[in-house]
Amino acid sequence: MEIKIIGDRIYLKEINETDAIKLHEYSKEPELNEFSGPYKASESIERALEYIKNSKKNILERKSYIFGIYEKRTDELVGTIGFFDLDDENKSGEIGFWVAKNYWNKGYMTEAIKIMTNYIFKELRYHRIFAHFHELNKAVERVLSKAGYEKEGELKEAIKSKDGKYYNDIIYGIVNQF
Ligand SMILES: CC(C)(COP(=O)(O)OP(=O)(O)OC[C@H]1O[C@@H](n2cnc3c(N)ncnc32)[C@H](O)[C@@H]1OP(=O)(O)O)[C@@H](O)C(=O)NCCC(=O)NCCS
Repeated sequence: MEIKIIGDRIYLKEINETDAIKLHEYSKEPELNEFSGPYKASESIERALEYIKNSKKNILERKSYIFGIYEKRTDELVGTIGFFDLDDENKSGEIGFWVAKNYWNKGYMTEAIKIMTNYIFKELRYHRIFAHFHELNKAVERVLSKAGYEKEGELKEAIKSKDGKYYNDIIYGIVNQF
């Protein structure tokens, strides 16, 4: 049965082949690529379709959970959120996310992270979730704090930027209190 995680203004569910064009369009937004490059996954329609196929397969095999973020009002795909690099022994994994520029600062990602975190703890029964990001990516720091994550540390100069300079990689995390 398809997983659907429902929030107030958005919901999360598996991305589908019909989302390939949108994913490819969003992958071209320079703002999304400023601090990270996972959007290469959709640099062509073919690659977007491949990405969607793999995402579905990985959910079925419980290897990773990449969901689309959909606006309730319009049913439009506005971004993605995922839980991956799962360490099954320690019940820990990484969360990663983006939302298209047109939808920034509406509180959508705060809501997406909150409902995803709840799902990971309550349904997937994991114990710890972490995220890491470029030290200049202040919006990520803010959105994770708003969703209840705390700073765990930073890896000194672990990210080599396109400008050739090195930046710190900041780690935020949350543990299951239930
Ligand atoms: C980070 C991101 C996911 C936030 O999504 P969003 O839906 O806009 O998040 P929200 O609206 O829930 O919250 C954003 C918060 O960040 C704040 N913010 C935005 N830009 C900021 C900046 N440059 N500096 C500091 N705070 C900033 C907003 O003011 C808001 O906080 P507030 O509610 O206290 O005003 C989105 O900007 C994004 O997709 N960025 C590009 C991709 C990316 O970097 N992904 C993460 C890779 S690790």
